[in-house]
Parts: sequence; C-alpha cells; structure tokens
Amino acid sequence: MKIAVLPGDGIGPEIVAQAVRVLHALGPKFDLEEAPVGGAAYDVAGHPLPPATLELAKKADAILFGAVGDWKYDTLARELRPEQAILGLRKHLELFANFRPAICYPELTAASSLKPEIIGGLDILIVRELNGDIYFGQPRGIRTSELPLFKGAREGYDTMHYSEPEVERIGRVAFEAARKRGKKVCSVDKANVLETSQLWREVMIRISKEYPDVELSHMYVDNAAMQLVKAPKAFDVVVTGNLFGDILSDEAAMLTGSIGMLPSASLDKNNKGLYEPSHGSAPDIAGKGIANPLATILSAAMMLRYSLGMPAEADRIEKAVQKVLAQGLRTADIYTEGTQKVTTVQMGDAVVAA
Ligand code: NAI
Ligand code: MG
Repeated sequence: MKIAVLPGDGIGPEIVAQAVRVLHALGPKFDLEEAPVGGAAYDVAGHPLPPATLELAKKADAILFGAVGDWKYDTLARELRPEQAILGLRKHLELFANFRPAICYPELTAASSLKPEIIGGLDILIVRELNGDIYFGQPRGIRTSELPLFKGAREGYDTMHYSEPEVERIGRVAFEAARKRGKKVCSVDKANVLETSQLWREVMIRISKEYPDVELSHMYVDNAAMQLVKAPKAFDVVVTGNLFGDILSDEAAMLTGSIGMLPSASLDKNNKGLYEPSHGSAPDIAGKGIANPLATILSAAMMLRYSLGMPAEADRIEKAVQKVLAQGLRTADIYTEGTQKVTTVQMGDAVVAA
C-alpha cells in the first residue's frame, strides 16, 4: 500500500519524521513516498501544491500530512500561501468528511483548563464538512458598497451555501460513526438566522429516519460553543458545516489540554483519506525540537484504521502512546509538575520502544 508522506513546513517535518519511525517500527513494509507541500514546496517549486505532489497524493492509498503555514510565507499572495495546499488537496481529492476526535487521556486531565470532573474521560467526535460552505462559495470578493449608509465604501463579501446532497453525505457519515460509538448525533447550525442552516436541519431530520438506533438533536452554534465548555461529555458525535466545524473543533481540541495530542482524518466517499494533526505549523516553536509529535503519530494510527484496513496495528500505536503517557513522558505543551519533559525525538523514541 502506498502512503504519500507530505511533511510541509514549520514543525511539519519534525513531527512527521517521528510518525514515519513509528510506522516502520510496526513491522509491515509500507511503500512511503515523500513530496514537498506548503511552504517547503513553494521554496523548491514556486507553488504550495505542485503538480507532482498532487499526482502522488492522488495515486496513493492514503496521505500522511504534517502542517503548513510558517510565518515567513505570510507576505505571499493568497494563491501562493502554504494553506492553499491543504485546501487544494481537500478539494481535488474530494475529502469532504473531517473527523476530529477530542479525547482527554486520564493522564493529561491536569493539562486541561477545565475541572477534572468536567473533562476527565472526554471522548467526543466532531464531524466537520470540508468541501462546501462559505469557504468556497461564490460570489465572493471586495467591491464598492451599495448600502445606503455606506455607499461608495469598500465591502468584503462571501457566500454561504450547502446543497442537499452535500448535507446528506456528511450526515450519513456522522450517523454511521455514531452507530459505532455512543449512538448520539448533535447537528450544529444557525437555523434561527441562516437559510443554509434551515435546509441543513431539514435534511438531517430526514436522513435520521434511516438511523432509528441513533438519537438526533440540534443545537445553535453559539449555544454549542457554550455547552462544549460547560458539559462537553454530554456530546457523542457532533456534525456541522465547514465554518462552524473549524471553530468548534479547535475549541474541543483545546479543552483536552493540548492541540498537540489530537489527530484528524479527512475522508472521501471511498475512505481514502488524508491524515494530519489538528494543529497548524506552530511557527513559534518550529526548529526547536520541542513540538509534540503525538497528534501526528495518532493520525498515522487513524490512517491504518480507516484507509488501510489495519485496525490491529492502529491499536498497537494507540496503546503505545497511552503507555508513554503513563510513564510520565511529556513534551513542553503537555508538561505539568511531576512529569518528565522530553523533546520531539525523545517522544518518538519512547513510542517506538513501547
Ligand atoms: P497552530 O496550531 O500552528 O499553533 C497554535 C499554538 O499551539 C502555538 O502556540 C503552537 O506552538 C502550539 N502548538 C501547535 N501544535 C503543537 C505541537 N504539535 N506541539 C506543541 N505545541 C503546538 O495554530 P496557529 O498559530 O493559529 O497557526 C500557525 C500557522 O499554521 C498558520 O499559518 C495557519 O494558517 C497554519 N495552520 C495550518 C493547518 C494545517 O496545516 N492543516 C491547520 C491550522 C493552522
Ligand atoms: Mg482551524
């Protein structure tokens, strides 16, 4: 099975290197092929997603992605910025379903800003639609305002939209996922204000009839943001659109203590997927050797489970990570008093050994 390895820029190369070591340590022979993406690709090819990288991603069975978006590329035109690479891959490969688990490992309860009884044992899954919504809607742009009060001033505008089939397919993914977990789906929208959300809610209610074993509830996104902080364990699967999902999944990630712990999967309709940590390229710590590689290592485990049909190997990685945490090893982002601070490579060493 072919795995495209796209480390990216910032801390991407440091954390992906550890995940690759862990894959090799499992035993089976993986066919790994590496290509530059994001800022690293801009440096060598003048574009964040060069044709050769896109081709490799298309022909691979799965993609292991690091992160993109180092500050040094901030002055580039939008279409050349590193983030265009991840947006382009999601779009070209039709990776419409983003799985973002938020899990609070018992050993890390102290790293969370929430009280242990509120966060301990948290295990929720945010399913975010990735291909539609206001991020891709047309028309968009900056124009001269026609509003009477602001006539002549510049105004920015974007368009939010979702078609019924787009809502249906992400809805089904969420219901299927809930079936294998806590059997609850909370659909998050803003149906009190947005037409897009009104249709979204209608479709969710319709397809929920196909899943009588799963309980569907609805929540407005502002309330969902509050409930995630107040009683996060009340959720099981949360399904939402691209924009709301972007924000809520980061919020859920942070609840657990560190974004450095959380993996993600972005799947197409055939379960081919791109696997990456939930965090970005962390330019503030890039090159220092202190980034937490566990989110990327756990993303490799998700890759084995969802795209490569190797659940036993996925379990081995997840158990190794738990063992390392139980041993008290912590990178700086999850360090608390009484634990042992380690570097990126030392964390990789420990997972490989475990
Ligand atoms: P970020 O996730 O890169 O960093 C936020 C904070 O978390 C920073 O203080 C960082 O040091 C810390 N952090 C992140 N990952 C960590 C890890 N593995 N270990 C230890 N600490 C970690 O988010 P930020 O700062 O908003 O974005 C930085 C750049 O990354 C931006 O250019 C952004 O566009 C890009 N980005 C890329 C993503 C991707 O490649 N899929 C996703 C999100 C952001
Ligand atoms: Mg985000």
